[in-house]
Amino acid sequence: MNDVILSCRDLAKSYHDGTSVIDVLSHIDLEVKSSEMVSIVGNSGSGKSTLLHLLGGLDKPTSGQVWISGKELFVLSEVEKCRLRNNFLGFVYQFHHLLADFTALENVSMPLLIRGVNPKEIQPKAEHLLEMVGLKDRFTHKIGELSGGERQRVAIARALVIDPLCVLADEPTGNLDPRNAERVFELFLDLQKTMRTSVVIVTHDMRLAKRAQRVLQIEDGKLVSLV
Ligand SMILES: Nc1ncnc2c1ncn2[C@@H]1O[C@H](COP(=O)(O)OP(=O)(O)OP(=O)(O)O)[C@@H](O)[C@H]1O
Ligand SMILES: [Mg+2]
Repeated sequence: MNDVILSCRDLAKSYHDGTSVIDVLSHIDLEVKSSEMVSIVGNSGSGKSTLLHLLGGLDKPTSGQVWISGKELFVLSEVEKCRLRNNFLGFVYQFHHLLADFTALENVSMPLLIRGVNPKEIQPKAEHLLEMVGLKDRFTHKIGELSGGERQRVAIARALVIDPLCVLADEPTGNLDPRNAERVFELFLDLQKTMRTSVVIVTHDMRLAKRAQRVLQIEDGKLVSLV
């Protein structure tokens, strides 16, 4: 099966800051297939987070299109876009965006609560995911009571709770020690094999990046294939 889960064509993003224009991305074409892991590398400021945000519909491109599971993203209303995202994509933000006043378990549960799933069904699943990322003893800690790496792992569990078709992960192991980074990466590999989840992972860690099927680099606003 070679079904395309996520794709973009001729995607471009520029920022206008008063007088000047910064062209961050241009002519980006990408197809991510079911059960495929793609890593994206590139210098700081090269546009990795920008690309991930565009692919996830969190930001609007200057031009170009994105399709998620065959549906064109930027012709949808905000509500439809949120629904599509909530149903298909697991987003791990570079800066987490967790809800500070809620516990780890509540944060991980949130995407399913929004979907209207019965809380009794959600809890075991959220607990299982927190265990998988090594946070068995932190279920009831509020986000403010967790370390940076622990928060990062809560964000990963939250992205996975919806059984996404595709995970978009922005430096998910950036704050982690090697053992926890490996645990998270193994979790992605396992989902890829068992659930046919696609994973797009942005990382500065070339050793991890090379374990994906494809390694892409953003260079001068273009996406080039390394492996
Ligand atoms: N809202 C914005 N307005 C203007 N410029 C922006 C905006 N957001 C990002 N940029 C610029 O776009 C470029 C790409 O940013 P982006 O966050 O995508 O980089 P990155 O590759 O993820 O970097 P890092 O590895 O440091 O996370 C940067 O030069 C940044 O300054
Ligand atoms: Mg970034």
